[in-house]
Amino acid sequence: MLRVVVLVSGGGTNLQAIIDEVHKGNITNTEIVGVISNNKNAYALERAAKAGISSLCISPKDFESRDLFNESFLAAVDELQPDLIVLAGFLVVIPEVMIAKYRNRMINIHPSLIPSFCGKGFYGLKVHEKALERGVKVVGATVHFVDEGTDTGPIILQKAVYVEDGDTPEVLQRRVMEQAEWKILPQAIDLIANDRVKVADGKTIIE
Ligand code: GAR
Repeated sequence: MLRVVVLVSGGGTNLQAIIDEVHKGNITNTEIVGVISNNKNAYALERAAKAGISSLCISPKDFESRDLFNESFLAAVDELQPDLIVLAGFLVVIPEVMIAKYRNRMINIHPSLIPSFCGKGFYGLKVHEKALERGVKVVGATVHFVDEGTDTGPIILQKAVYVEDGDTPEVLQRRVMEQAEWKILPQAIDLIANDRVKVADGKTIIE
């Protein structure tokens, strides 16, 4: 069984998609062993509670320094002994020591087709605002391994979504979630749980 820890900051719809697909049997060999949020008001925490998954909140705001937060954060993650860490809308910068420790064992969902609309400052609704500002016709989502850069790690899965006339950032965000994020994030976890994702030369190979 792949022990998965999901890190969240907000609504947790991606967390919900993972929970649902585990229940439906579309993600196999996987147990969600914990949810960690940096935000005590995150609705994701309620989703975890409803699914009977233990959760905790740990926020940089409650620590005197970033180093102290990073230390406690890593300890909290380690305690759960994850095989895979899933960043599902987690908006805190991951400490470098944690990236090194969990290399190729930590994935992120990003709401664009990387390398478009990604990197510093591109998160959540902002990504969709920028895509509409630019007038692109196709957007999408990406699941990738986390490395030291922002959205630069090896890409595992991507899915394209069409922009439609009259889209607002909110409408587009919802379509990208429904048509791409909630599909490729569970799919990537299932592939990893079944040992089908290999990394070589900064790229992934799906077997
Ligand atoms: C999702 O759209 C996710 O792709 C995005 O935040 C949202 C979280 O929603 N992540 C990023 O922008 C990371 N750079 P959720 O809490 O409902 O899953």
